[in-house]
Amino acid sequence: MVLRDVGRRVHVFPDLAAASEALATRLVRQAASSVRHRGRFRLVISGGKTPLGLYAALAGPYRDRMPWRDTELFFADERCVSPRSVDSNYGAAWRSFLSRVPIARSRLHWMRGELRPIRKAARLYAAVVGDVPHPGAARGPLFDLVLLGIGPDGHTASLFPGQRSLRERRAAVVAVPRSGQPPFVPRLTLTAPALSSARDVWFLVAGADKVDALRATFGVRGGRRAETPAALIRPERPVTWYLDRAAARALRPG
Ligand code: 6PG
Repeated sequence: MVLRDVGRRVHVFPDLAAASEALATRLVRQAASSVRHRGRFRLVISGGKTPLGLYAALAGPYRDRMPWRDTELFFADERCVSPRSVDSNYGAAWRSFLSRVPIARSRLHWMRGELRPIRKAARLYAAVVGDVPHPGAARGPLFDLVLLGIGPDGHTASLFPGQRSLRERRAAVVAVPRSGQPPFVPRLTLTAPALSSARDVWFLVAGADKVDALRATFGVRGGRRAETPAALIRPERPVTWYLDRAAARALRPG
């Protein structure tokens, strides 16, 4: 099922495996088209459990269809732990696919979660990512594709409800001293303007525990009114949502 409105496209699949498979197919197509048109594919990935099947597919059946040589990989956020920790987003991505694909180390841009003070790690990553372009600037978007997830509280990347990071308008990366969700360790995150400076943004969301967050994000009648961090991600083109059937209950009003 595909639903469209001005701000979003929603694809619904029977389960997470089917959603991940469809997303992987489109991702390799998008990567090839980006390399054809711009000579590169700047991809941002997220942490969490939902994308692990997608990542495994990228190291499995889709491995040889990805233009790894021209792909630059970035992270939407990081937990401030060692890359060897089970809580590290980079560590999880490394174990689930990066160690098994032919991407050059120089094109792999992970956040330095182990560095202190964390503000310094944020500054270092901001220098890697580049400045958020001003609205209407001639320079194109920072990224070709951003892949995000959403938490039950509506957070995305490490942008948590009610936190100061949501008001950031200029910096591409900020340090987040307190996490709103487990693991409760400080975080580093791309900001809403940086994530919105992408040619395309795709969310992969599965499970009934995400229904309330999706309702609030979509502004579905009967959902909580508060705007979620996920709703702050507003690229020029419509955001695409890949949902499993359980999460898609959010689309039903009331
Ligand atoms: C993180 C993430 C985070 C994640 C959501 C969804 O570091 O935790 O980048 O924003 O995408 O929390 O996580 P799940 O897929 O595990 O539900």
